[in-house]
Amino acid sequence: MQIPRLHPDTIEQVKQRADIVEVISEKVVLRKRGKDFQGLCPFHDEKSPSFSVSPHKQMYYCFGCQAGGNVITFLMELEKQSFADVVLNLARRYSIPVQTLESEQRQELQRQLTLREQLFEILAVTAAFYQHALYQPSGKAALEYLRSQRQLNDETIQKFQLGYAPAGWETLYRYLVEQKGFSVQLVEQAGLIRRRKESQVSYYDYFRDRLIIPIHDFQGRIIGFGGRTLADEQPKYLNSPDTQLFNKGKTLFALDKAKDAISKQDLAVVVEGYFDAIALHAKGITNAVASLGTALSLDQVKLLLRYNESKQLVLNFDADKAGNTAAKRAIGEIANLAYRGEIQLRILNLPNGKDADEYLRTYSAEQYQNLLNEAPLWLAWQLEQLLEGKDLKQANQYQQVAEEMVKILSSIIDDNQLTHYVNQCAERLSKGDSRQIPLISQNLLNKVVQHWKALICQNQSLQMPLLVENLVKRNYPQVKPQLRIVKKQNADAEKVVTTQRDDLLKIAEALLLRLYIHCPEYRQDIIDRLEKQELEFSFSHHRFLWQQIREFDINLTTENLISKLQDKAIEFPKEMAQASRLFILDELAEKDLQRAGELIKAAIIRMEQVMCEKQYFYFSELLKKTDYFTATELWEKSSHELIHYRQRSMELEAQCQVSISDLLQL
Ligand code: UTP
Ligand code: MN
Repeated sequence: MQIPRLHPDTIEQVKQRADIVEVISEKVVLRKRGKDFQGLCPFHDEKSPSFSVSPHKQMYYCFGCQAGGNVITFLMELEKQSFADVVLNLARRYSIPVQTLESEQRQELQRQLTLREQLFEILAVTAAFYQHALYQPSGKAALEYLRSQRQLNDETIQKFQLGYAPAGWETLYRYLVEQKGFSVQLVEQAGLIRRRKESQVSYYDYFRDRLIIPIHDFQGRIIGFGGRTLADEQPKYLNSPDTQLFNKGKTLFALDKAKDAISKQDLAVVVEGYFDAIALHAKGITNAVASLGTALSLDQVKLLLRYNESKQLVLNFDADKAGNTAAKRAIGEIANLAYRGEIQLRILNLPNGKDADEYLRTYSAEQYQNLLNEAPLWLAWQLEQLLEGKDLKQANQYQQVAEEMVKILSSIIDDNQLTHYVNQCAERLSKGDSRQIPLISQNLLNKVVQHWKALICQNQSLQMPLLVENLVKRNYPQVKPQLRIVKKQNADAEKVVTTQRDDLLKIAEALLLRLYIHCPEYRQDIIDRLEKQELEFSFSHHRFLWQQIREFDINLTTENLISKLQDKAIEFPKEMAQASRLFILDELAEKDLQRAGELIKAAIIRMEQVMCEKQYFYFSELLKKTDYFTATELWEKSSHELIHYRQRSMELEAQCQVSISDLLQL
């Protein structure tokens, strides 16, 4: 029988209502001694009583055999019952209504899990069907197209599992439903067939007479398809609709095949089209993914950043169409990351507005690689765009360019970048007269400061470069009070985020302690990881428990360790009040043990991240107190540290995407 997962409220109520003295005195003769009760221990043979029960602490403890715990552990031990059974019995006895934890929700989850697996299977079978069809007579034109127009060899065609969707209306439908016996509903949910409007029972294939490009998730499982028309039909590319498995905005095409190269080269190339990515891979440039024609989303970038340490991305988007706006549009949501210096974004525009696929049909991979290496940083690229076709000798054009430059400079939040680009702009504006550079820099910076000052006066909550903040304070003492308000708003917003973070941290720390106690084979690993990163527990009760734990031999069995810790709990009831929760394993916690290694890693990442944030905070406070003009060296050192910790924290955040959601599944 499936044991119900009890709602924490029910467990809590049972603990509060069930009186330990009452329960135990049914099994043991108890005599009052001071505040506590004493009796003969039921867990070992003894002649004189060393078993004591504290109504005050709602705990029992035996000085003879070190058995100890609360009312629930007492019954679990004595009656050899499961945690859930004990709680249920006590609930019945004390008339506490039993709530189980989202049992329907869990069933639903279970159902969805199997649904996902079934969908994966259908898509895999479908891909094989399309692949096969490519080599049939009806697929001849498609195959010919790949070979001659796209210049792809069979190896690439097979590597990408390219295929052909036949022209009939029900070819795939018949194959999957009638031949393979998949249910119509599932095939529909996989996004492969559609119901005819006028009918309840008749369906038609979604992809017809199209070249098929399977889309995989990062683990290489097929989640959807792109289908290119061979007959100039609209749309040019038909993509799978969003399904349980497929979400276009969160997917990067070819990531499964690119991720190793991305981590090895510490650089990711993002192109627009399926065939751009395919062409790059075919030519050996395997760190390339495609964004599927939409603006690059934050989700997609996060996915990429998991694989590359130094956060380097090159966007190689079409330069044709409406001038260079494609790249600008594509950057969309990720602009802020770049302005803060959290990613290193470069832009590659190929000559004559070619896309990667077209370029590689004429030029070699080496030539492409050279262009890639020279691709300018996004900010530099924007500045170049500004200068394009402008004559700085004409006063009005000079003015216009300078204004646009100030706009761009005003969006930079990273101090190092700001200094760098102010100089670069000044250099361009100086028209070769280097004596002018300092003065122009000064002017540009002043304009930037004015821009920020205006925002402060509008009371906008902002994050600004420290250099700017110092200059605002110095040049505009009258806005200081306003600045303080704005910064307080920032801090408040930050606090909300911090609370959620604290919750996660608490979970992570508790998990680590629990795993240490219950998985002796992982104890050394936990100690090593904590020591390697010089990590400490942040919550005082966790820190206290850890100190106690470390007093004992690492080779103790779980039972012995717990009973020794129970001693400590009696000695230090206040400090250890929350610890006993970690001694008990309910069904849920038992599941954790099976993936202890993975969970330990996740918990450590979370702790390291908090440590980084603390360091970051320390250095940012230090920076605020340091004047750039009088203590330049300290200022630079601190800002260096600041950036280091921010980056590390970002890296960890990216790693956490998988692991912390894991933690939270609990
Ligand atoms: P493009 O239209 O820029 O062209 O689409 P392309 O990739 O160079 O196409 P080819 O070379 O003529 O085959 C870029 C990407 O945008 C998505 C596809 O992912 C495509 O690869 N797209 C484009 C669609 O999803 N639907 C469309 O109708 C067009
Ligand atoms: Mn193309």
